[in-house]
Amino acid sequence: MDNFNVLSGSMGDFLHIPGANLLNRTAAFYNWQQARRQAGLWPYGRSTENGPHSRCLARTDDGNLFEGVNFASQDYLSLSSHPEVLNVAIETIQRFGVHSAGAPAFVGNTSLSLALENKIAEFLSADHIILYPTGWAAGFGVIQGLVRSNDHIVMDKLSHFCLQQGARAATKNVHFFRHNNLEMAREKLEKIRASDTENGILVVTESLFSMDSDSPDLKALQELAHEFNATLVVDVAHDLGSLGENGRGHLELQNMIGKIDVVMGSFSKTFASSGGFVASSQRSVKEYLRYFSSPNIGSNALSPSQAAIVGKCFDIAASGEGVALRRKLMNNVMLLRQLLNDSHFDTYGEPSPIVSVKIASEGLARLVSRCLPTIGLLSNLVEFPAVAKGAARFRFQVMANHTNKDITDGADFFRMAMAIASIEDETLKSGAIESAEQRLKSNDPQLETS
Ligand SMILES: Cc1ncc(COP(=O)(O)O)c(C=O)c1O
Repeated sequence: MDNFNVLSGSMGDFLHIPGANLLNRTAAFYNWQQARRQAGLWPYGRSTENGPHSRCLARTDDGNLFEGVNFASQDYLSLSSHPEVLNVAIETIQRFGVHSAGAPAFVGNTSLSLALENKIAEFLSADHIILYPTGWAAGFGVIQGLVRSNDHIVMDKLSHFCLQQGARAATKNVHFFRHNNLEMAREKLEKIRASDTENGILVVTESLFSMDSDSPDLKALQELAHEFNATLVVDVAHDLGSLGENGRGHLELQNMIGKIDVVMGSFSKTFASSGGFVASSQRSVKEYLRYFSSPNIGSNALSPSQAAIVGKCFDIAASGEGVALRRKLMNNVMLLRQLLNDSHFDTYGEPSPIVSVKIASEGLARLVSRCLPTIGLLSNLVEFPAVAKGAARFRFQVMANHTNKDITDGADFFRMAMAIASIEDETLKSGAIESAEQRLKSNDPQLETS
């Protein structure tokens, strides 16, 4: 592996590194990351100085401050700074303190978490809700909690990492089907049931895919699962609260509210807090998960203020104000997609708060990412292995509080970054100037090369 391969190579190259010393094995990745960082090509690990506002002051992971229009935060209805949400957080901290100080299986829940469970149950027309400390824990935990080693998992290939990790932790029998390809899901189910009618099957998908902004046919998938005595779990992390006139996401848009076996979600996109949940129609599922889904035993519950914040966000999402915020959000989404498309960028999928812009080449995408802080734009670069090789993209996450100027600036700044990066890319390809890799090699004696 070439340590200085800053415009190609990927994090995937460092997943399996030979060597007996676990700590020393990390050096190869660090060297590659340093080379990218020093070339201004490491756009990850950033922080904001004033929170995820639509314009914010941010810091690169090597400490440089920059200001920009922010399309890199997931606060779709802009509720993280809503005055009522702030008030409820302050009041709750004064009354309950700041910490849950216990796992949900013991005394980690408060009256606020129980009230939140009821609110979510009502919002989703589901009977039983169990809360988790993060959406990640909910995704991992629902699979690890329900599935045993002889069972099978039939999963959309692009399912979120937490679902894939939960599946790997639960069983070796994980079968992937091509993204949103129900025919292939059927083939997998047929094959499993031809030789195994004894064990369980969990079918796993998302209602709005977080990189492609597309959705499966939920009704058809639920029927397919039942045809093979399988259970369907759907991750609604991105569309719950943010899509559909009443905020029930694709469950609402596809007339599937209350009709999916198990729904799992996160609060971290629309509900202004870390946390997640699992919903089902059976009390036994909730009780089983409370004691057999590991995050509920071995991890502390949502803090009281998180439960209160999420509860208030559900109130707003269910109200007339929620309807207005979603309309504003969708107007912003449509405007951004249109401006990007007018500039000949391809946007993935269907209109949703996720506007993914196709770049394809990782090298070009990294050069674009290098221009963004100077130009004043925050948008996340997504590259392999988070998406397929050669499918690099920028993910704009749109918020209700973005103004028209934020949106037009976002599209203009991105076009400028692309124009600069394309010239750099052409120049590098033509070999007319020293490559970034060569520059790094010759100019940086301090760079570790071990
Ligand atoms: C589809 C999906 N599921 C689950 C999660 C995990 O949610 P959280 O951020 O609440 O841990 C995410 C977050 O990135 C997600 O995109």
